[in-house]
Amino acid sequence: MIKAFVKEQIFHLQTNNTSYIIKVLPSKHLGNLYYGKKLDFDIDYQNLELKHKLEVGSQVAYSNEDKTFTLNTAFLEMPTFGKGDFREPMCHFRLNDGSRITDFLYQSHQILENKPKFQEMPEAFGDKINTLEIKLYDQASSLEVILYYSCFEDQDIITRRIVINNKSQNPVIVEKALSMSLDINNEDYSLTSFDGAWIKERQINQQKINPGIIKIDSKKGVSSADHNPFFVLSNKYCNELQGKCYGFSLIYSGNFEAIVERNPYNQIRIQMGINSFDFYWELMPDKSFITPEVVLTFSDQGYNRLSQNLHNLIKNNIINPDFKNINRPVLFNNWEATMFDFNQRKLLKLAKKAKKLGIELFVLDDGWFGQRNDDTSSLGDWFVNRKKLPLGIVKLAEKINKLDMKFGIWVEPEMINFDSELYKNHPDWVISHPKHKPSLGRNQLVLDLAKAEVVDYLDEVLTNLFSSANIEYCKWDMNRNISDLYSDSLSPKDQGKLGHLYVLGLYQLLSRLTRKFPKILFESCASGGNRFDLGMLYYMPQIWTSDNTDAFSRYFIQYGTYFGYPQSVVGAHVSDIPSMQVIRKTPLETRFNLSAFGLLGYELDISLLTPFERKVIKKQIEFYKAHQQLFQFGKLYRLASPYQENEMHLVVVSEDKTEAILGIFQNFEQPNAEFSKILLPMLDITKKYRIIKREQYFSLDMFGHLVKHALPIKLNAKALLFHLLRNRYLFKTETEDKIVEGDILVHNGFIPKQKFMGTGYNEQVRLMGDFGSRIYYIREVYENEKN
Ligand code: DGJ
Repeated sequence: MIKAFVKEQIFHLQTNNTSYIIKVLPSKHLGNLYYGKKLDFDIDYQNLELKHKLEVGSQVAYSNEDKTFTLNTAFLEMPTFGKGDFREPMCHFRLNDGSRITDFLYQSHQILENKPKFQEMPEAFGDKINTLEIKLYDQASSLEVILYYSCFEDQDIITRRIVINNKSQNPVIVEKALSMSLDINNEDYSLTSFDGAWIKERQINQQKINPGIIKIDSKKGVSSADHNPFFVLSNKYCNELQGKCYGFSLIYSGNFEAIVERNPYNQIRIQMGINSFDFYWELMPDKSFITPEVVLTFSDQGYNRLSQNLHNLIKNNIINPDFKNINRPVLFNNWEATMFDFNQRKLLKLAKKAKKLGIELFVLDDGWFGQRNDDTSSLGDWFVNRKKLPLGIVKLAEKINKLDMKFGIWVEPEMINFDSELYKNHPDWVISHPKHKPSLGRNQLVLDLAKAEVVDYLDEVLTNLFSSANIEYCKWDMNRNISDLYSDSLSPKDQGKLGHLYVLGLYQLLSRLTRKFPKILFESCASGGNRFDLGMLYYMPQIWTSDNTDAFSRYFIQYGTYFGYPQSVVGAHVSDIPSMQVIRKTPLETRFNLSAFGLLGYELDISLLTPFERKVIKKQIEFYKAHQQLFQFGKLYRLASPYQENEMHLVVVSEDKTEAILGIFQNFEQPNAEFSKILLPMLDITKKYRIIKREQYFSLDMFGHLVKHALPIKLNAKALLFHLLRNRYLFKTETEDKIVEGDILVHNGFIPKQKFMGTGYNEQVRLMGDFGSRIYYIREVYENEKN
């Protein structure tokens, strides 16, 4: 709800648990009074105001009328450069006469019942999302800036964006146009960003905010794995379950910047938007520039609550409503199984095996088109390779459908290889500069999506592909960052627009295709998680999280990813061992257990599975399907963190708290292990729960020569019989099935069976091993169940 106190010129935006309060300052600048835990509407707002009663030494007074007021220490909602605020501006302009001074003052406001929709850009949507619109105007330049604040009450989210209107007779160069700026008092806040690179995306990185400027950004043309366009500020008392924190996430898929600046007065400025590096936009008279939307949230109940706010927004207000709470199929992807080396026979063999395991969707990855037998050619040639698939995609899809499985396909439409028909016909469609030999990434170049004809071409060619067969899923890949940034379609003074125009071209293309093919489930991918952001999620309801399918690396990747994104968008596959990315061996059950806290897929050569693996995988899929809604859409809690402890604990719980699933993931086996007790604060103290451990199995390899101690029969690990049995024998792990009161689980915790202590093995021992894990299904006891 938004209330405007017109006389006091105060605007109070309230969500269920937070308040954001804005005030027009006496100078007419737009100021911020407060952002945090919900406050009453009926308060004395003066108590929130900063005191500007004394002159602050060595500052520039905004006006002679009040020498105590300087913009440099004021909390401002739209700071610019030139009138004494020497912190980072939110917008920066180069005016016709060369001046860079602007001074935006309040002009008017209105409260809109619904959120306005702008040009084709992703955004948070919803019915009756009250929006505050405030107009600011700079007299000298005749520039208008309209700020939009939308209130997603149930999610405790405020979204912000601005629109810049050039009302002058002259062109203006916009050099910086961020989506938000917020000033708050520092309460010893730390900044958490989610940083990484290929196969190590979204690693948690926390740093103290010292005086100066911290900037995280992308200049890669995509939001990038280096820094996710999402960050958190938290105070020192904050942990997963308690404490104050703020989250900021940009709905944008290109170059971005996030700035946290601490000034000498212990004030913090927080900003986010399109990267101002290499950005300049000539804004002609009567034209507008629209910034992407940014999402703000606050929690006083720790990081989990902050994440859940964002998860709720993503599930309800960002992803395509047609996919809301719709179970995502268990998929098989042939990439790690075959790479480029496949033909129809091989694929169908895999598909038949997949069906037998219980897989619902068969995905054909890279290599099905043009002359593509490795990654040096054919991107751009989106017609089938008849050598590999003589009967084409249509027949392959039909045959897969006949097996009662859905069919999905991989594309990488934004890219082109020199060695392609498309390049022969349209060398001018590539992003490059005539005097530079273009630099390649994975042997490929990027198509110039700033050109309407390129977008139209891709639209046409993909429309043909998607309508040529029964394609129900599409993995949309993008495997290089953008260099050689130059477009011959833009004039010299418009080259600074290219990064943003590329993103707008992509959004245009995605919008057309997703509207034309509403039934196709799109999964975004960029060498794994190089473009994992809310912009892509608006068009594609899930993302391939990382090319790293090693389960232990995934502990860290998924734990970090969940901070900003729900498990219902996190593609997570079981692959073979040793893992391709780190040559590590992790147990098959852990590979599943972790993937189950996401969108489960299998990506290994299932035609070579041992009987042990086949039986275990079948059981895994059965279990996942039995709890698919809960796994994919349950409320997610992170408990123990693998970054800080030897275990990671994850829980998904149903809205009514009648069901939950607990996952325990161990880093390394410790000698003489500690005793475990796991508090489950998300459960209901008034209920009674039954806790049932998922049936999990070891192969005999777990024990090797020790098997004689673990089994009643004597087996020599060096003998043939052992080798015959190791691929067949399902060694059952301990069972656990008990009834426990909710208040015990909440206040004292769940006490699983004791860990292996080096003193022997029997049914009472919970042997985890390196990278071992367990899953427990927890549900409210039925009426007739006995204790
Ligand atoms: C990168 C993706 O992340 C992989 O999963 C796979 O699709 C390859 N591209 C194919 O080239």
